[in-house]
Amino acid sequence: MSINRAIETQIQNRVKTMPALPQTADHIYRICQSYNVQAGSLYKLICLDPFIFCHTQALFNSYFPKLNERFYSIAEIIIMLNINTVKNYIVPFAQTTHEGILGKTISKNFIEANNKLFLHSVAVGITSRFIAGLRGVDALQFEYYYSAGFLHDIGKFFFIEEAGHSEVGQVALKQMSLYSGLQNVIAFHHDALKFSGKDAEIVRTVALADCWVKRKLELKMDSCEPKFENALINKLELNQAIFNQLENLVPNELKRVSTFIKSGAV
Ligand SMILES: [Fe+2]
Ligand SMILES: [Fe+2]
Repeated sequence: MSINRAIETQIQNRVKTMPALPQTADHIYRICQSYNVQAGSLYKLICLDPFIFCHTQALFNSYFPKLNERFYSIAEIIIMLNINTVKNYIVPFAQTTHEGILGKTISKNFIEANNKLFLHSVAVGITSRFIAGLRGVDALQFEYYYSAGFLHDIGKFFFIEEAGHSEVGQVALKQMSLYSGLQNVIAFHHDALKFSGKDAEIVRTVALADCWVKRKLELKMDSCEPKFENALINKLELNQAIFNQLENLVPNELKRVSTFIKSGAV
């Protein structure tokens, strides 16, 4: 079913108030209490929370509405807006989740269900970034590739069953005026071969990363058509050696991220 007015309003209501994920909220809340927040810690945590990421981008757009012709990384946004502006803006979103966990209004079951999606998103983000690196994409673009992969299934986090997650995610990002390249990735990640605009490479990279993560890491063997995956590999002009490298790089990086999330050692 496509998006109608009622679903659009439903998305709009959720977009404005979506709190931090349970996986990151406590860490964000804790570091934001400190007078001496390290920009690097804040940056890492924002990049691990899809809603905090989007709220931060939307805040940036409200300050610089005319600067949305390219993707601005979270690192650039923290520098341009100042760390305290970002911190003060995101802390209420983290506080809502933090209090929900303490007051048990956020259940363990919800956190566990949400965790699978969170880990999938992180894995696709990391894989997209590595594929970009192995293809020789400019290092300045790495955060864009990571963010696009990380956000590709953001529509699923809204738990709106009346429409597909690609459409829900795209509408949500549009409502927040997030960069159009990110909107395209979300809209076309299951239909990447139909997209031919200027962001085609990133759309295809994320689509391939999504297939690779499902097949190789999550062992969902039939979740992507081999024909689709092979066509993406051909369009991106990749050779098999890249996949051997991914098999080492991605699990190691995922381990590093999950230790970071568990320990809260920021
Ligand atoms: Fe998806
Ligand atoms: Fe996915």
